[in-house]
Amino acid sequence: MERSTFIKSSLGMAGLLALHRISSASPLLPFNTGNMTTTDRIPLIQLNNGTTIPQLGFGTWTLTDKPEQYVREAIEVGYRLIDTAQGYGNEAGVYQGVKDSGIARKDVYLTTKVSPQVMRDGTVQRSLDESLEKLGGEYIDLCLIHWPVKDHIQDTWTILEDYVAKGLIRSIGLSNFNMHHIDDLLKYARVKPVLNQIEVHPSFSNMQNVGRTLYRDIAAQSWSPLGNGQDLDDPVLATLAKKYGRSVAQIILKWHMQRGLIAVTRSRNIAHMKENLAIFDRDLSPVDMSVIHGINSDRRTNAQNDPDNFPW
Ligand SMILES: NC(=O)c1ccc[n+]([C@@H]2O[C@H](COP(=O)([O-])OP(=O)(O)OC[C@H]3O[C@@H](n4cnc5c(N)ncnc54)[C@H](OP(=O)(O)O)[C@@H]3O)[C@@H](O)[C@H]2O)c1
Repeated sequence: MERSTFIKSSLGMAGLLALHRISSASPLLPFNTGNMTTTDRIPLIQLNNGTTIPQLGFGTWTLTDKPEQYVREAIEVGYRLIDTAQGYGNEAGVYQGVKDSGIARKDVYLTTKVSPQVMRDGTVQRSLDESLEKLGGEYIDLCLIHWPVKDHIQDTWTILEDYVAKGLIRSIGLSNFNMHHIDDLLKYARVKPVLNQIEVHPSFSNMQNVGRTLYRDIAAQSWSPLGNGQDLDDPVLATLAKKYGRSVAQIILKWHMQRGLIAVTRSRNIAHMKENLAIFDRDLSPVDMSVIHGINSDRRTNAQNDPDNFPW
């Protein structure tokens, strides 16, 4: 896929280490176990503002066909974190899926993202009001700046801070920010970003950005944790999957969890949705974690998908 097509479709034309922690009190989200074992639970990660977020969630990029169905199914099998974006064009459908699932609004964590387009157009405020309306009219759990659009980060962040002050957005964060973007924002931010959602998967382990983000007491969240499906054919991962008696997708997602990352993964297949949640009963060994680190080839899902090369 062409870089610009990828970015447009993805974004939609549309401290210290100890401070980042998996909550030691370990509140666990029980979910409908279906045919999984009852030991399966999604841990909660505590963010720097004291709120918690499920460590594994459901992504909705490209789910414009039947978002309400996929989101309802995802919630029914146990997901409690749903990731959307203004640019995905499916916020209203995502919320419909939440309603159809019958789950209380307070029991699901909804993330959306301010699109690069509205940042450039100067319509961030209006877009947030629209997102709020589409996502149920009460509040948004987490809103991210989708892309560090040159010259529009500070004004967007200030608006997001105002929405936090009004209680309309509970947490705010970043996506696709490199370290220099984060350090620049930290100079003026009144509200610290809770997380940075970045590309991470075995062929793009993104060690440096992950480590430096965590060191600043900002959580790191993996997008395309399965490499948009491209990492599922890796022969090393196939060997590990056989060794553990698990699928390749499960091995990859477990690797994200054991790195202390939060991840949002996507599927249209309910069996895959369930499978991807059934990873919390057994750990990968430290050696096998290192083996997976070794797969890294700095291969992004799109070769030029780096905000320093594409300031938008
Ligand atoms: N912030 C950003 O700029 C940004 C950019 C990209 C993505 N994201 C977010 O990250 C989310 C996840 O990334 P992604 O959409 O690229 O998805 P992904 O989770 O990396 O990969 C999804 C692909 O893997 C397949 N898959 C999932 N589980 C599987 C399993 N157990 N066995 C076999 N195949 C499986 C899916 O096919 P099936 O449908 O057949 O299961 C789909 O083709 C997005 O949906 C979006 O919310 C954010």
